[in-house]
Amino acid sequence: MSERLEEIANRMVAEGKGILAADESSGTIKKRFDSIGVESTEETRRDYREMLFRADDAMRNYISGVILFDETLRQKARDGTPLAELITAAGAVPGIKVDAGAKPMALSPGEQITEGLDGLRERLKAYHGLGARFAKWRAVIAIGDERPSWNCIQANAHALARYAALCQENGIVPIVEPEVLMDGPDSVHDIGRCYEVTEWTLNAVFDQLFDANVQLEGMVLKPNMVVPGQKSGTKASVEEVAERTVRVLKSTVPAAVPGIAFLSGGQSDEDATAHLAAMNAMYDLPWKLTFSYGRALQAAALRAWGGKSENERAGQQAFSHRARMNSLAALGSWKPDMERQAA
Ligand code: 13P
Repeated sequence: MSERLEEIANRMVAEGKGILAADESSGTIKKRFDSIGVESTEETRRDYREMLFRADDAMRNYISGVILFDETLRQKARDGTPLAELITAAGAVPGIKVDAGAKPMALSPGEQITEGLDGLRERLKAYHGLGARFAKWRAVIAIGDERPSWNCIQANAHALARYAALCQENGIVPIVEPEVLMDGPDSVHDIGRCYEVTEWTLNAVFDQLFDANVQLEGMVLKPNMVVPGQKSGTKASVEEVAERTVRVLKSTVPAAVPGIAFLSGGQSDEDATAHLAAMNAMYDLPWKLTFSYGRALQAAALRAWGGKSENERAGQQAFSHRARMNSLAALGSWKPDMERQAA
Protein backbone atom coordinates (compact mmCIF):
# COMPACT_ATOMS: atom_id res chain seq x y z
CA MET A 1 0.00 0.00 0.00
CA SER A 2 2.73 2.44 0.86
CA GLU A 3 4.37 2.14 -2.55
CA ARG A 4 1.03 2.83 -4.12
CA LEU A 5 0.62 5.99 -2.01
CA GLU A 6 4.06 7.17 -3.08
CA GLU A 7 3.25 6.52 -6.70
CA ILE A 8 0.02 8.54 -6.52
CA ALA A 9 1.73 11.39 -4.64
CA ASN A 10 4.45 11.50 -7.28
CA ARG A 11 1.88 11.62 -10.08
CA MET A 12 0.17 14.55 -8.36
CA VAL A 13 3.38 16.59 -8.53
CA ALA A 14 4.65 15.29 -11.88
CA GLU A 15 7.12 17.53 -13.72
CA GLY A 16 5.40 20.60 -15.16
CA LYS A 17 1.97 19.65 -13.84
CA GLY A 18 -0.20 20.86 -10.98
CA ILE A 19 -3.58 20.47 -9.35
CA LEU A 20 -6.87 22.14 -10.20
CA ALA A 21 -8.81 22.91 -7.01
CA ALA A 22 -12.44 22.73 -8.16
CA ASP A 23 -13.84 21.71 -4.77
CA GLU A 24 -15.74 24.88 -3.92
CA SER A 25 -18.48 24.09 -1.43
CA SER A 26 -22.08 24.93 -2.41
CA GLY A 27 -21.79 28.29 -0.63
CA THR A 28 -18.49 29.23 -2.28
CA ILE A 29 -19.51 28.25 -5.82
CA LYS A 30 -22.68 30.28 -5.37
CA LYS A 31 -20.54 33.33 -4.58
CA ARG A 32 -18.43 32.69 -7.70
CA PHE A 33 -21.55 32.28 -9.87
CA ASP A 34 -23.14 35.40 -8.32
CA SER A 35 -20.11 37.36 -9.55
CA ILE A 36 -21.01 36.47 -13.18
CA GLY A 37 -24.79 36.63 -12.70
CA VAL A 38 -25.40 32.89 -13.02
CA GLU A 39 -27.78 30.99 -10.77
CA SER A 40 -26.09 28.12 -8.90
CA THR A 41 -28.08 24.94 -9.56
CA GLU A 42 -26.99 21.32 -9.71
CA GLU A 43 -27.09 21.62 -13.49
CA THR A 44 -25.12 24.87 -13.85
CA ARG A 45 -22.49 23.58 -11.43
CA ARG A 46 -22.24 20.39 -13.49
CA ASP A 47 -22.03 22.30 -16.80
CA TYR A 48 -19.29 24.57 -15.52
CA ARG A 49 -17.18 21.76 -14.14
CA GLU A 50 -17.79 19.54 -17.17
CA MET A 51 -16.49 22.37 -19.33
CA LEU A 52 -13.25 22.49 -17.31
CA PHE A 53 -12.72 18.72 -17.24
CA ARG A 54 -13.28 18.49 -21.00
CA ALA A 55 -10.62 21.14 -21.69
CA ASP A 56 -8.35 18.61 -23.33
CA ASP A 57 -5.23 20.69 -23.77
CA ALA A 58 -5.20 21.79 -20.11
CA MET A 59 -6.17 18.46 -18.63
CA ARG A 60 -3.77 16.32 -20.64
CA ASN A 61 -0.73 18.52 -20.53
CA TYR A 62 -0.76 20.67 -17.40
CA ILE A 63 -3.12 19.19 -14.80
CA SER A 64 -2.09 16.21 -12.68
CA GLY A 65 -5.17 16.02 -10.45
CA VAL A 66 -8.50 17.69 -9.69
CA ILE A 67 -9.97 18.25 -6.22
CA LEU A 68 -13.73 17.74 -6.26
CA PHE A 69 -16.59 18.52 -3.91
CA ASP A 70 -18.80 15.59 -2.82
CA GLU A 71 -21.60 16.52 -5.25
CA THR A 72 -19.24 16.63 -8.25
CA LEU A 73 -17.70 13.22 -7.55
CA ARG A 74 -21.21 11.77 -7.79
CA GLN A 75 -22.29 13.75 -10.88
CA LYS A 76 -22.47 12.62 -14.48
CA ALA A 77 -21.62 14.60 -17.60
CA ARG A 78 -24.43 15.44 -20.06
CA ASP A 79 -23.69 12.22 -21.98
CA GLY A 80 -23.91 10.12 -18.79
CA THR A 81 -20.16 9.65 -18.18
CA PRO A 82 -19.26 10.17 -14.51
CA LEU A 83 -17.31 13.43 -14.20
CA ALA A 84 -14.52 11.58 -12.35
CA GLU A 85 -14.09 9.40 -15.45
CA LEU A 86 -13.51 12.46 -17.63
CA ILE A 87 -10.63 13.35 -15.32
CA THR A 88 -9.15 9.85 -15.35
CA ALA A 89 -9.54 9.63 -19.15
CA ALA A 90 -7.43 12.78 -19.48
CA GLY A 91 -4.68 11.14 -17.43
CA ALA A 92 -5.31 13.10 -14.22
CA VAL A 93 -6.14 11.84 -10.73
CA PRO A 94 -9.53 12.62 -9.14
CA GLY A 95 -9.43 13.84 -5.53
CA ILE A 96 -12.00 14.84 -2.94
CA LYS A 97 -12.35 17.55 -0.31
CA VAL A 98 -13.24 15.70 2.89
CA ASP A 99 -13.24 18.35 5.59
CA ALA A 100 -16.58 19.71 6.73
CA GLY A 101 -15.39 23.30 6.78
CA ALA A 102 -13.74 25.71 9.23
CA LYS A 103 -16.03 26.58 12.16
CA PRO A 104 -15.66 29.21 14.90
CA MET A 105 -13.36 27.85 17.60
CA ALA A 106 -14.91 27.78 21.07
CA LEU A 107 -13.44 30.37 23.49
CA SER A 108 -10.99 31.56 20.79
CA PRO A 109 -12.54 34.70 19.29
CA GLY A 110 -11.72 35.21 15.62
CA GLU A 111 -10.20 31.75 15.20
CA GLN A 112 -11.44 28.67 13.38
CA ILE A 113 -11.11 24.92 13.72
CA THR A 114 -11.76 22.59 10.80
CA GLU A 115 -14.35 19.87 11.44
CA GLY A 116 -15.04 16.55 9.74
CA LEU A 117 -13.19 13.73 11.53
CA ASP A 118 -16.27 11.86 12.77
CA GLY A 119 -17.15 9.07 10.34
CA LEU A 120 -14.23 10.00 8.10
CA ARG A 121 -12.93 6.43 7.79
CA GLU A 122 -16.23 5.27 6.28
CA ARG A 123 -16.46 8.28 3.97
CA LEU A 124 -12.92 7.67 2.72
CA LYS A 125 -13.77 4.07 1.86
CA ALA A 126 -16.83 5.25 -0.07
CA TYR A 127 -14.83 7.95 -1.90
CA HIS A 128 -12.19 5.39 -2.85
CA GLY A 129 -15.01 3.31 -4.35
CA LEU A 130 -16.12 6.35 -6.37
CA GLY A 131 -12.60 6.73 -7.81
CA ALA A 132 -10.93 9.30 -5.55
CA ARG A 133 -7.24 8.60 -4.95
CA PHE A 134 -6.34 11.69 -2.95
CA ALA A 135 -8.11 13.97 -0.50
CA LYS A 136 -7.88 17.51 0.84
CA TRP A 137 -8.37 18.96 4.32
CA ARG A 138 -7.96 22.71 4.79
CA ALA A 139 -7.13 24.31 8.13
CA VAL A 140 -7.17 28.10 8.38
CA ILE A 141 -4.99 30.22 10.61
CA ALA A 142 -5.84 33.91 10.94
CA ILE A 143 -3.31 36.58 11.81
CA GLY A 144 -4.39 39.37 14.16
CA ASP A 145 -3.39 41.29 17.27
CA GLU A 146 -3.48 38.32 19.62
CA ARG A 147 -3.75 35.71 16.92
CA PRO A 148 -3.02 33.00 16.16
CA SER A 149 -3.19 31.30 19.55
CA TRP A 150 -1.16 28.20 20.41
CA ASN A 151 -4.46 26.43 20.98
CA CYS A 152 -5.69 27.17 17.44
CA ILE A 153 -2.47 26.04 15.78
CA GLN A 154 -2.22 22.85 17.86
CA ALA A 155 -5.86 21.85 17.41
CA ASN A 156 -5.75 22.38 13.65
CA ALA A 157 -2.40 20.59 13.27
CA HIS A 158 -3.72 17.67 15.28
CA ALA A 159 -6.86 17.40 13.15
CA LEU A 160 -4.74 17.52 9.97
CA ALA A 161 -2.61 14.65 11.25
CA ARG A 162 -5.62 12.52 12.23
CA TYR A 163 -7.11 13.13 8.79
CA ALA A 164 -3.84 12.31 7.02
CA ALA A 165 -3.44 9.03 8.91
CA LEU A 166 -7.00 7.97 8.08
CA CYS A 167 -6.41 8.76 4.40
CA GLN A 168 -3.25 6.68 4.22
CA GLU A 169 -4.91 3.78 6.04
CA ASN A 170 -7.47 3.77 3.21
CA GLY A 171 -5.11 4.04 0.24
CA ILE A 172 -5.75 7.76 -0.29
CA VAL A 173 -3.00 10.39 -0.50
CA PRO A 174 -3.69 13.29 1.87
CA ILE A 175 -3.17 16.86 0.76
CA VAL A 176 -2.30 18.55 4.04
CA GLU A 177 -3.38 22.19 3.79
CA PRO A 178 -2.62 24.56 6.65
CA GLU A 179 -3.48 27.98 5.23
CA VAL A 180 -2.23 31.10 6.94
CA LEU A 181 -4.77 33.60 5.60
CA MET A 182 -3.66 36.68 3.68
CA ASP A 183 -7.09 38.23 3.40
CA GLY A 184 -8.13 38.58 7.04
CA PRO A 185 -9.66 41.72 8.55
CA ASP A 186 -6.59 42.83 10.49
CA SER A 187 -3.94 45.27 9.44
CA VAL A 188 -1.09 44.06 11.64
CA HIS A 189 0.41 41.60 9.28
CA ASP A 190 3.33 42.39 7.10
CA ILE A 191 5.45 39.78 5.33
CA GLY A 192 7.61 39.20 8.44
CA ARG A 193 4.57 38.31 10.53
CA CYS A 194 3.35 35.96 7.79
CA TYR A 195 6.78 34.28 7.82
CA GLU A 196 6.72 33.76 11.62
CA VAL A 197 3.19 32.36 11.69
CA THR A 198 3.82 30.10 8.69
CA GLU A 199 7.00 28.75 10.32
CA TRP A 200 5.16 28.08 13.59
CA THR A 201 2.24 26.43 11.80
CA LEU A 202 4.37 24.17 9.60
CA ASN A 203 6.52 23.07 12.54
CA ALA A 204 3.39 22.16 14.51
CA VAL A 205 1.92 20.29 11.53
CA PHE A 206 5.04 18.17 10.90
CA ASP A 207 5.34 17.37 14.63
CA GLN A 208 1.79 16.07 14.62
CA LEU A 209 2.25 14.15 11.36
CA PHE A 210 5.26 12.42 12.91
CA ASP A 211 3.32 11.51 16.06
CA ALA A 212 0.46 10.12 13.93
CA ASN A 213 2.85 7.85 11.94
CA VAL A 214 2.00 9.56 8.66
CA GLN A 215 4.30 8.47 5.85
CA LEU A 216 5.76 11.67 4.43
CA GLU A 217 6.52 10.08 1.04
CA GLY A 218 2.80 9.50 0.54
CA MET A 219 1.46 13.02 1.10
CA VAL A 220 1.44 16.42 -0.57
CA LEU A 221 1.72 19.69 1.37
CA LYS A 222 -0.49 22.60 0.31
CA PRO A 223 0.75 25.74 2.07
CA ASN A 224 0.31 29.46 1.60
CA MET A 225 3.13 31.52 0.18
CA VAL A 226 4.80 34.04 2.49
CA VAL A 227 3.17 37.33 1.47
CA PRO A 228 2.12 40.54 3.24
CA GLY A 229 -1.54 40.67 4.34
CA GLN A 230 -3.81 42.32 1.79
CA LYS A 231 -4.85 45.01 4.26
CA SER A 232 -1.37 45.64 5.69
CA GLY A 233 -0.68 48.47 3.26
CA THR A 234 2.73 46.93 2.46
CA LYS A 235 3.92 45.25 -0.71
CA ALA A 236 6.68 42.74 -1.41
CA SER A 237 8.60 42.11 -4.62
CA VAL A 238 8.30 38.80 -6.45
CA GLU A 239 11.87 37.96 -5.41
CA GLU A 240 11.15 38.68 -1.75
CA VAL A 241 8.07 36.46 -1.71
CA ALA A 242 10.04 33.68 -3.42
CA GLU A 243 13.01 34.05 -1.07
CA ARG A 244 10.96 34.06 2.16
CA THR A 245 8.66 31.27 1.05
CA VAL A 246 11.55 29.00 0.10
CA ARG A 247 13.34 29.86 3.36
CA VAL A 248 10.39 28.93 5.54
CA LEU A 249 9.78 25.70 3.62
CA LYS A 250 13.45 24.67 3.82
CA SER A 251 13.44 25.16 7.56
CA THR A 252 10.24 23.22 8.24
CA VAL A 253 9.41 20.66 5.49
CA PRO A 254 11.33 17.35 5.47
CA ALA A 255 12.92 16.36 2.15
CA ALA A 256 10.94 13.09 2.21
CA VAL A 257 7.79 15.00 1.19
CA PRO A 258 7.58 14.54 -2.62
CA GLY A 259 5.89 17.80 -3.42
CA ILE A 260 4.49 21.10 -2.30
CA ALA A 261 1.49 22.45 -4.21
CA PHE A 262 0.61 26.01 -3.21
CA LEU A 263 -2.83 27.51 -2.76
CA SER A 264 -3.38 30.89 -4.38
CA GLY A 265 -5.28 32.36 -1.44
CA GLY A 266 -6.54 35.53 -3.08
CA GLN A 267 -3.38 36.49 -5.02
CA SER A 268 -4.03 37.75 -8.54
CA ASP A 269 -3.66 35.15 -11.30
CA GLU A 270 -0.39 36.62 -12.51
CA ASP A 271 1.11 37.11 -9.04
CA ALA A 272 0.43 33.47 -8.16
CA THR A 273 2.18 32.42 -11.38
CA ALA A 274 5.10 34.84 -11.02
CA HIS A 275 5.82 33.81 -7.43
CA LEU A 276 5.84 30.10 -8.29
CA ALA A 277 8.04 30.72 -11.34
CA ALA A 278 10.56 32.72 -9.31
CA MET A 279 10.91 29.99 -6.69
CA ASN A 280 11.52 27.32 -9.31
CA ALA A 281 13.90 29.49 -11.33
CA MET A 282 15.96 30.72 -8.35
CA TYR A 283 16.39 27.59 -6.23
CA ASP A 284 17.35 23.96 -6.41
CA LEU A 285 14.99 22.23 -3.99
CA PRO A 286 14.44 18.76 -2.52
CA TRP A 287 10.73 18.70 -3.37
CA LYS A 288 8.68 19.58 -6.44
CA LEU A 289 7.10 23.02 -6.11
CA THR A 290 3.87 23.38 -8.04
CA PHE A 291 0.34 24.76 -7.91
CA SER A 292 -2.98 23.63 -6.48
CA TYR A 293 -4.89 26.76 -7.35
CA GLY A 294 -8.60 27.39 -7.18
CA ARG A 295 -9.29 31.03 -7.91
CA ALA A 296 -6.01 31.69 -9.75
CA LEU A 297 -6.76 28.90 -12.25
CA GLN A 298 -10.48 29.48 -12.68
CA ALA A 299 -11.20 33.22 -12.50
CA ALA A 300 -10.59 33.95 -16.20
CA ALA A 301 -12.38 30.78 -17.34
CA LEU A 302 -15.41 31.58 -15.19
CA ARG A 303 -15.67 35.08 -16.70
CA ALA A 304 -15.21 33.84 -20.27
CA TRP A 305 -17.90 31.17 -19.79
CA GLY A 306 -20.47 33.44 -18.14
CA GLY A 307 -22.96 30.59 -17.85
CA LYS A 308 -23.56 30.34 -21.63
CA SER A 309 -23.04 27.11 -23.53
CA GLU A 310 -21.90 29.01 -26.63
CA ASN A 311 -18.97 30.32 -24.57
CA GLU A 312 -17.67 26.92 -23.51
CA ARG A 313 -14.81 27.00 -25.99
CA ALA A 314 -13.74 30.44 -24.74
CA GLY A 315 -13.91 29.22 -21.14
CA GLN A 316 -11.75 26.22 -21.98
CA GLN A 317 -9.22 28.39 -23.78
CA ALA A 318 -8.96 30.72 -20.79
CA PHE A 319 -8.48 27.76 -18.46
CA SER A 320 -5.86 26.18 -20.74
CA HIS A 321 -3.95 29.42 -20.95
CA ARG A 322 -3.74 29.79 -17.13
CA ALA A 323 -2.88 26.12 -16.72
CA ARG A 324 -0.07 26.45 -19.28
CA MET A 325 1.32 29.57 -17.62
CA ASN A 326 1.37 27.77 -14.27
CA SER A 327 2.94 24.68 -15.81
CA LEU A 328 5.74 26.90 -17.14
CA ALA A 329 6.03 28.41 -13.64
CA ALA A 330 6.36 24.93 -12.14
CA LEU A 331 9.23 24.36 -14.59
CA GLY A 332 10.77 27.73 -13.69
CA SER A 333 10.59 28.93 -17.28
CA TRP A 334 7.63 31.37 -17.19
CA LYS A 335 8.35 35.00 -18.13
CA PRO A 336 5.84 37.89 -17.96
CA ASP A 337 5.96 38.46 -21.72
CA MET A 338 4.55 34.96 -22.28
CA GLU A 339 1.24 36.26 -20.91
CA ARG A 340 1.05 38.94 -23.55
CA GLN A 341 2.17 36.73 -26.46
CA ALA A 342 -0.64 34.34 -25.72
CA ALA A 343 -3.31 36.98 -25.09
P1 13P B 1 -7.33 29.08 -3.82
O1 13P B 1 -6.20 28.80 -4.77
O2 13P B 1 -8.45 29.87 -4.44
O3 13P B 1 -6.84 29.64 -2.51
O4 13P B 1 -8.01 27.69 -3.51
C1 13P B 1 -7.24 26.60 -3.26
C2 13P B 1 -7.91 25.71 -2.30
O5 13P B 1 -8.15 24.57 -2.59
C3 13P B 1 -8.24 26.24 -0.97
O6 13P B 1 -8.58 25.18 -0.12
